[in-house]
Amino acid sequence: MRSTWILGNWKQNHLRGEATKTSSEIARGLDEARAGAANFEVGIAPSFLALDSVRAAGGPNLLLLSQDVAAQESGAFTGEVGSEMLREAGVSATLVGHSERRAKFGDGHDQVRAKLQAALAGGLKVILCVGEQLEDRQAGNQKSVVITQLSSALVDVTPEQIKASIVVAYEPVWAIGTGEVATPDQASEMHGAIRAWLGDSYGEAGSGRSILYGGSVKPANASDLIDAPNIDGFLIGGASLDAQSFLAIVRAAAQARQA
Ligand code: PGA
Repeated sequence: MRSTWILGNWKQNHLRGEATKTSSEIARGLDEARAGAANFEVGIAPSFLALDSVRAAGGPNLLLLSQDVAAQESGAFTGEVGSEMLREAGVSATLVGHSERRAKFGDGHDQVRAKLQAALAGGLKVILCVGEQLEDRQAGNQKSVVITQLSSALVDVTPEQIKASIVVAYEPVWAIGTGEVATPDQASEMHGAIRAWLGDSYGEAGSGRSILYGGSVKPANASDLIDAPNIDGFLIGGASLDAQSFLAIVRAAAQARQA
């Protein structure tokens, strides 16, 4: 059975006080919200500076993620935060290749691959983010764009590493922060293509991976999306900043998993 993952990405939001308040409220409501759902992971990726706050307030049931990781192990790389530092701070997984990193900070295929490798070498799991731009979809190229992102990031990864440490997040760029969510059919179709590619490339180690959807996930659309084939959870930006809206999404997903 594939695990369900509900992950919040706070981006450059929430100072430490707000991070403490929000994550303690999430932690308090978590048992009730996901009651009865097995293989069900819930986590938050705060800013680097709020990792300690979320770790302390969120407790052991809330996974701690980072939003990015350095491509290098350690050394003279001003401004970077490496995987070993993140592990020391209690982080268990990192996003890699978020579309904002790709579009606004120049993370290209090589950089994404290097960050993914550095994360794995440091013992972190990776939430590998992929997704097409609006122009790609309008031109009908969305699948080839996404498969190219996947294949270039995972080229040096073994089936064992895929199985133990990789989760894929499909986030169409046109749906991120826009309020324009992909339909369950659109998301499901892409998730199916991703799963087929993972299966062709890595056998069962690949086809058994969790594939999350991201892009304007809200309490109101979470149930329809989680019910769609091949959607194994969510990566949530805006709606994760508020504890109650994040918990409402957790609840919707947990209820679907019991049905
Ligand atoms: P959004 O962001 O939920 O605000 O659209 C999703 C993401 O960037 O991961």
